[in-house]
Amino acid sequence: MEQLYSIRQVCEKTGLEESDIRFYETAFKEFLSFTELAHGKREFTSDHIALLQRIKELINKRGFSVIEVKKHLRSLTHHTNDTMEKGFVMPAKAGEFARVIAVTSGKGGVGKTNLTVSLAMLLAKRQRKVAIFDADLGLSNVHILAGVKPRYNLSHVVEDGFDFEDAIVEGPLGVKIISGGQGLREMANLTDDQRRFILRQMDKLEREVDVLLVDTGAGISDNVLRFAAFADEVICVATPNIASASDAFSIIKILLQMDPNAKIGLLANMAPSMYHAKNVYNRINTATENCMHYTLGYLGYVMEDEHIQVANQHRKPFALAFPNCEATKNLELVVDTILNKRIFQNDKKDSAFGDLIGAIKRSMAGAA
Ligand SMILES: Nc1ncnc2c1ncn2[C@@H]1O[C@H](COP(=O)(O)OP(=O)(O)O)[C@@H](O)[C@H]1O
Ligand SMILES: [Mg+2]
Repeated sequence: MEQLYSIRQVCEKTGLEESDIRFYETAFKEFLSFTELAHGKREFTSDHIALLQRIKELINKRGFSVIEVKKHLRSLTHHTNDTMEKGFVMPAKAGEFARVIAVTSGKGGVGKTNLTVSLAMLLAKRQRKVAIFDADLGLSNVHILAGVKPRYNLSHVVEDGFDFEDAIVEGPLGVKIISGGQGLREMANLTDDQRRFILRQMDKLEREVDVLLVDTGAGISDNVLRFAAFADEVICVATPNIASASDAFSIIKILLQMDPNAKIGLLANMAPSMYHAKNVYNRINTATENCMHYTLGYLGYVMEDEHIQVANQHRKPFALAFPNCEATKNLELVVDTILNKRIFQNDKKDSAFGDLIGAIKRSMAGAA
């Protein structure tokens, strides 16, 4: 027999108050047919719990209205009408959301885009479904380094009514690449209907990928911070250059002020030696520990390696063009760390995907 839960257990499991659950019962009664409740039994199935969690996520994290939630649930259940009537709904499985990792830096030219693209390739080689969202408004060149030509970016979706799918290009190893382009700016002027249209389409992506890497661009701008702040984890790239380290510290400081639960790891790039790399970490981490009482994750390093320039000239991700070069070997170790739950995975945030939608919503609304 199916296990049943009391309302108290449901509160514990979902983090909802009893009053929220009552509200959801009334507002979404066509999806949550708690026939037992009417008889004062207050029993919930695990499907009910999954659905309550889903509704909570949509409302709290994505700012959906009741009508929007209903539409969303209907789109999930429209072909299961007969089972729906019996109170059964497609459960929202745990772990269904993509892990969102933002790659950022204090200064430009530190290797973010190269590392993002090659990280995506190495993750894909390890059977992860990966997408890269190019959110760099300054120099959005993910597609160039990946050797693909995007026909459309978010501008076309926003301005010309193209489908969001049209803005997704398949790169090497099936990695999906989405260019924000100037579309991220134009979104401030959308009508509500246009905005909803795009957000609905982005929802689809969440079910298709395991890891979403966001190349945020460099420096302290609204756009960078917005995208770095919503991510599950942030990879901050810095080089042995002194200015790069102090700018990295500035951005880390702001990210921690925005979210003390942020999970930030440092990746040292273009280091002439392992010693230099560790030094980059130590310098920035000491400042972070002293000022913010926060210890940065050490994600490792990528040495200075001329193969990267050569790969760039051939418009190929260096990890694919030179699978055995020093930089690729270094990056393989970084991937090990990223995939190792205990070292670099944020358990303090439930899911960043909803927050990504939130970040895009806010950039559309033009909010800081
Ligand atoms: N580890 C490295 N060794 C040598 N050159 C590198 C390395 N990482 C990046 N580069 C070079 O640095 C430049 C900037 O890289 P890029 O990925 O575009 O940086 P960002 O995205 O941070 O602006 C490119 O010319 C790239 O080839
Ligand atoms: Mg770049």
